[in-house]
Amino acid sequence: MNLPDLNKVAVAMVTPGKGILAADESTGTIKKRFDAINVESTDETRRDYREMLFRSAEAMNYISGVILYDETIWQNAKDGTPLIRLIEQAGSIPGIKVDEGTQPLPFCPGETVTVGLDRLADRLTKYYAHGARFAKWRAVIDIAADIPSATAVHVNAHALARYAALCQAAHIVPIVEPEVLMDGDHDIDRCFEVTRHVLDEVFRELRLQRVALEGMILKPNMVVAGKKSPKQASVDEVAHKTIRLLKECVPAAVPGIAFLSGGQSDEEATAHLDAMNRIGQLPWKLTFSYGRALQAAPQKAWSGKAENVPAGQRAFTHRAHMNGLASLGQWTAQLERKAA
Ligand code: 13P
Repeated sequence: MNLPDLNKVAVAMVTPGKGILAADESTGTIKKRFDAINVESTDETRRDYREMLFRSAEAMNYISGVILYDETIWQNAKDGTPLIRLIEQAGSIPGIKVDEGTQPLPFCPGETVTVGLDRLADRLTKYYAHGARFAKWRAVIDIAADIPSATAVHVNAHALARYAALCQAAHIVPIVEPEVLMDGDHDIDRCFEVTRHVLDEVFRELRLQRVALEGMILKPNMVVAGKKSPKQASVDEVAHKTIRLLKECVPAAVPGIAFLSGGQSDEEATAHLDAMNRIGQLPWKLTFSYGRALQAAPQKAWSGKAENVPAGQRAFTHRAHMNGLASLGQWTAQLERKAA
């Protein structure tokens, strides 16, 4: 492992003012997003849509890295340029999602484990040769009355660390993503407790499996109430509880934390990130690695029509800019309105 090189990439991924675009929806997930805007999901429409994003020159000024799905990393733009080259030409780092989704976890009803470790070493070698410099693996932890079980937390943390070690051995920076879902009716304090259990287990496994923390990025959920909870927390409470938790659980050797948006509205995701960066005096850089909170607006503006590409790019630029400001603690609701 060349740790100085891995660290350089990890630090670049969390450059102040920039963050990560998660454009790695699997074929099934992007179909759901396209269904919502009445666009048929074909390899061509998926290509056109992602080409629109990667050619948004202004937006890409705020994007340090792009997470791709396997199909996209091998696809060419309409003019034959590989999509991965468009990302590099925009000054951004290409990355690749390498997990193969979730499977039911035996004897743990309602819980899953993320799979994809078999043959991962070979796949990483091929992705590196093609230009990927970081990867992503997402573990999913759900909250309900009797879950998560210690079993689900443990096996998912173990797999995340196995993946992270394989990445670093292949000169690829792992994004370690343990996502505690916000789908339930739990309050913010239950999210705090469960996320603490998960992060403790993840860092224990990373240490046990000799992962170098300087050469990775953590992608956690924020500490929020479940969507169905009658008691939603304020921006200030989310920011303070998330920072308190991360300070307890995430060693200062980790260069950066890039949050997932997880179903928050576009503006909530931006406001929360901004409020956390305004707290200041943090041992790591804090930025975004958003999928939905960056793409919902451009998807709607584009709606599958070539003549809407400039509108789609404007919408993407706006969200990328607002989140870039949030990564500096310089976003305001007024700027959000003014620039929109
Ligand atoms: P969301 O921001 O839509 O949660 O997606 C981020 C991601 O990459 C989930 O794995």
